[in-house]
Amino acid sequence: IQPLAVNLSSCHPAIGRPGKLVNCCPPRNMLDDPISDFEFPDPDTTPIRVRRFAHRLDDDYIAKYEKALSIMKSLPHSDPRSFTRQVEIHCQYCTGSFLQQGSDFPVRVHRNWLFFPWHRMFLYFHERILGSLIGDETFALPFWGWDSPDGMTLPELYLNGSFNDHRRDPSHYPPTVVDLNFKKLDPTRSTPEEQIRLNLALMYNHMVSGAKTAELFLGCPYKTGEYEECPGTIERAPHNPLHTWLGSPDIDGREDMGAFYVAARDPIFYAHHSNGDRLWGLWSETHKGFDDPAFLNSYTYFYDETLRLVRIRFSDVMEMDKLRYRYEEIENAWVAARP
Ligand code: C2O
Repeated sequence: IQPLAVNLSSCHPAIGRPGKLVNCCPPRNMLDDPISDFEFPDPDTTPIRVRRFAHRLDDDYIAKYEKALSIMKSLPHSDPRSFTRQVEIHCQYCTGSFLQQGSDFPVRVHRNWLFFPWHRMFLYFHERILGSLIGDETFALPFWGWDSPDGMTLPELYLNGSFNDHRRDPSHYPPTVVDLNFKKLDPTRSTPEEQIRLNLALMYNHMVSGAKTAELFLGCPYKTGEYEECPGTIERAPHNPLHTWLGSPDIDGREDMGAFYVAARDPIFYAHHSNGDRLWGLWSETHKGFDDPAFLNSYTYFYDETLRLVRIRFSDVMEMDKLRYRYEEIENAWVAARP
């Protein structure tokens, strides 16, 4: 089995959401750019970025992130570091805009084993770009700790300035407690306490009791010329339901967050995914991931903060340490939520 690779010259318009054809391809052929292989940041000279709990950020940090994000939003579309291009990267890989090298199958990063590593790469480059725009090598994204009772509301940060997105469901603004298993209907009976209890039980199931193998937690294999959908536990929930929970019920597809092709327009997207990434890290401390070379040797491409087109393999992102970032430690209340 060949490792899966992205055919860079294959980008084409694709279905964004049912009934909507979208073109989120890069404006010029990426093959015109020289390709460099990913190199790990030098551990001796690269500070560790610490991703912090989004409900407990201080004003200095918020000011930095605000500045970095405004600069990113002001860059022209021709610049791959620009916010619109970042949004489009996610669109390309959720719609299957690229084909696999040597096959007519699309490359998709949802509902299969590419989910965690691909989103880790995406955030990694996104974070480095933000940091470089303000000349801060320690800049790190926040994480929305929705698995912790203190994090079960939309973090206040995302109600303001560049962090706001008007295409959300305002009835889900704080103090509404998130429903980690949201199914498009708000529970009528649960009190906030009851909702928190349900959330913790779901987390226990999706992190512990129902997530004992790599396939259960990370999702099914996705190899060259094969196409199968079966998401891992955390992707199924809370990841998917929270996209829906945040998007506007008045817009088709509950955009922005509810429709993957535009989800990354909402700045909360990045904090939502950094929490998923954090949970993957926790799970990996006690479980073995995939060691299939078809997985580890699969590769894709991102532009880094210096505008280089980088080829990166899935095996490159198995350890956060090597990527020089980690998460602030918080109490994982679901560990004790065994029914
Ligand atoms: Cu690629 Cu939360 O989606």
